[in-house]
Amino acid sequence: MQLTLPSSLYRDPEAYALDRKAVFAAGWQFLGHESEIAGAGDVLAGDMAGWPVLVVRTPEGGLKGFHNVCRHRAGPLVPDGASHCGGELTCRYHGWRYALDGRLRSAVDFGAAEGFDPRAFGLFPVTVDLWRGFIFVNVDGKAGPLSELTAPLDGLFDAHGIKAGPATLRRSHDLDCNWKTYVENYLEGYHIQAVHPKLAAEVNPATYRVRMTGSAAVHEVETLSGVNDGLWVWLWPNLAFNVYRYGLMVEHMRPLGHNRTRLDYLYFFDPATADMAAVLETSDGLTFEDKEICEAVQRNLDAGVYEVGVLSPRHEDAVAWFQSQIARLHG
Ligand code: FES
Ligand SMILES: [Fe+2]
Repeated sequence: MQLTLPSSLYRDPEAYALDRKAVFAAGWQFLGHESEIAGAGDVLAGDMAGWPVLVVRTPEGGLKGFHNVCRHRAGPLVPDGASHCGGELTCRYHGWRYALDGRLRSAVDFGAAEGFDPRAFGLFPVTVDLWRGFIFVNVDGKAGPLSELTAPLDGLFDAHGIKAGPATLRRSHDLDCNWKTYVENYLEGYHIQAVHPKLAAEVNPATYRVRMTGSAAVHEVETLSGVNDGLWVWLWPNLAFNVYRYGLMVEHMRPLGHNRTRLDYLYFFDPATADMAAVLETSDGLTFEDKEICEAVQRNLDAGVYEVGVLSPRHEDAVAWFQSQIARLHG
């Protein structure tokens, strides 16, 4: 019998503080797609579980990553999302200017401070890497190669002929729950019958399986029509690639705090051929069903009566795998 994690890990601010370091600073975090920062000086910024990071395109065509935190008094350099900075990053608080390699170029109008050496005040770097055009960052700089994490996805992407780019649309949905509550919901098809009646009518729920391969979870199900042209695959710790009839949508399950999560959806559909209204209607319908159940689950985890539950050997292998990773990191 496989027991669940204790409910305290889903509600305690201290547990979230450890997730921030052991999961999100230590691993690779998705930021976006390189098509969003195609030109020199284009910047993409976002908050990764409380780590504000930015990635900038250099004039040489490479990518550099930094914390979006000024070394003077912690001001922000760029707004979240995509923007353009020109040839340097200028703090939005007092205007310190940094070269795109992070060096402090000018502490504007600072005055003569004894012992102040601008060379010691460069931006804090983060490691950046690309996989098939997707931008990932590693905050603590100690993660293993990104290609090791993504290796299980290469065969799947090739088999399904999945290509991403350019990104066509970003949308977000906010959830009042811990990020793990939502991730675990993504990792099983056990709830489809009860929570997604429309989807349940299109597939054979008895055939629903979620298979782990490396740090990825692959959903497999027979559709009633016998045609399965879709692919849903999750990648540790909080990313999913959802392939629908019209193309790919990347789902980033981004923690905003111990009890809040934002789903960032990045669509790669060709608006010329995709029926976007139908795509968004299906996508929103499923999201609202999942939001409602996850928020109700979170309220019950918070209530305090439930401490530990049990996982299905038939349906919740991927949840068990995820929980074992979390348990290990929480020692
Ligand atoms: S905080 Fe950036 S210039 Fe003051
Ligand atoms: Fe769901």
